[in-house]
Amino acid sequence: MTNMDLSDECMIFDNDYQQLKRWCGEFGRSHLRAPTYFIRTFGCQQNDHDSEIAAGILEETGFLQAVSVDESDLVLFNTCSVRANADRRFFGHVGSLKPLRRGGAPLIGVFGCMMEQPMHRDRVISTFPYVDFILGAGAMQLLPYALITILDADESHKQTLDMTGTESDVFAHGLPVRRTRSHRALLTIMTGCNNFCSYCIVPHTRGREISRPYEHIMEEARRAVKEGATEIMLLGQNVNSFGNDVRLKGGEAISFATLLKEISLIDELGIVRYMTSHPKDLSDELIEVIGSQSRVEPHIHLPLQSGSDVILKKMNRRYTAGHYLERVRKLRTSRPGITVSTDLIVGFPGETEQDFEDTLQVMREVRFDAAFTFIYSPRTGTPAASWYDEKEQESVHERFERLVTLQNAISLESNQVMVGKTVDVLIDGPSRRNPDILSGRARDDRLVNVSLNDEMSLPGNLVYKRSPAPGEFAKVKIDRAGSFSLEGTMVTEIKNEEAMP
Ligand code: SAH
Ligand code: SF4
Ligand code: F3S
Repeated sequence: MTNMDLSDECMIFDNDYQQLKRWCGEFGRSHLRAPTYFIRTFGCQQNDHDSEIAAGILEETGFLQAVSVDESDLVLFNTCSVRANADRRFFGHVGSLKPLRRGGAPLIGVFGCMMEQPMHRDRVISTFPYVDFILGAGAMQLLPYALITILDADESHKQTLDMTGTESDVFAHGLPVRRTRSHRALLTIMTGCNNFCSYCIVPHTRGREISRPYEHIMEEARRAVKEGATEIMLLGQNVNSFGNDVRLKGGEAISFATLLKEISLIDELGIVRYMTSHPKDLSDELIEVIGSQSRVEPHIHLPLQSGSDVILKKMNRRYTAGHYLERVRKLRTSRPGITVSTDLIVGFPGETEQDFEDTLQVMREVRFDAAFTFIYSPRTGTPAASWYDEKEQESVHERFERLVTLQNAISLESNQVMVGKTVDVLIDGPSRRNPDILSGRARDDRLVNVSLNDEMSLPGNLVYKRSPAPGEFAKVKIDRAGSFSLEGTMVTEIKNEEAMP
């Protein structure tokens, strides 16, 4: 393993970039095609965004995106460690590359949260020696350096280049981004987490909270809107504590509430979304902004985790179920109709039937519009992992089923209220399941499948409405509701000047 101190080399990042460009040019001349890349991303939206930056760097230097792993010259894995099945999926995928690898191709790189943990790193290096390089989470800035180092190495190079621990700018300000959806700009406003919930690996992989400078966030947001983004998604593990790190050091920083408001006022922006909010830090000031700014989404993702005060304490969440309920009431008064989604963990060590009932009770009181439900997964290095008792697991699957059944019923009721209403839907593009219909999200984050109005396909019809493009808002009348999505029909606008010839 080679663990390097590259602090000087980071300064010559531009040089790495130019070298990689030259390599791509040479590859093109000898292969009569551009080199290709494929990125497999696991985990949260912060990882999604890091992959967008990696793709941006690669395309800027001359790579093209491949349609599959089999057809790519470079395969990248962006890993997640939040639950055991994320780890397992990564190891399965990287193992399946072994038979594909011939004469050092494709090149293989791994980065993301798993690579911040020595046990996973060591396993990659010892079990999958054909992995060419490893980077830390969010270290996209180092990608060109890693690639040219590997490409320059002679055939006898057999070791995995381990660049975890090398300093890099986690916000990668000014680096190119290739957005998965051109109309949705993911924008990291802070990284890391200081909360140390007792079950969670994130503070151990992403480090302490660091807020990105306000001016950089605004500059990137304005640029994204100018480039055509109609939606901005602000990202952080706990956006409500934005600026706390600066304040702790005696500096001045604006609050998340002010940042959200300023972003929402950018001309031509359609909607601003944000995640994740921590119930203990959800301020009155933020609730006021959510209530008063129409372009701030009428939705909040507010993880509850458990409805039992005993479990919440063991989880180190630092709020009670009562506090959570009070915050939701205040949000609903401030922004009537706001949807509330959540995360819930079943089977936390020591969870009793009564604790679980408490969670069901809070679910019935809040009536979450959507919930992401997880079975507790012990993570090495976190306090809760040492409280884990295999014997307790017998009841967990049955509890999980009860929780999901209740939530599906509540989600369905919540969605049924929308039937007959006309809502704005931000179109993402054709639905993955049926290319004849469009899919998008309502302002309140509900997933909507949109059929075009039948009238549009009638021959000789004088009413013509073009199909909305990704990133446009369409007016949609809701016809049917399910637990996870709505179905609707686009409301035809009668405009003679747009009549079909
Ligand atoms: N920062 C966010 C999200 C972190 S990870 C927050 O504070 O909520 C996303 C979700 O994964 C968490 O909300 C939690 O519900 C779940 N999660 C995290 N660690 C877990 C573990 N060890 N087992 C099961 N679920 C976990
Ligand atoms: Fe993990 Fe808790 Fe931080 Fe969320 S707030 S990332 S759950 S430690
Ligand atoms: Fe996973 Fe890391 Fe995100 S552990 S959930 S990718 S911060």
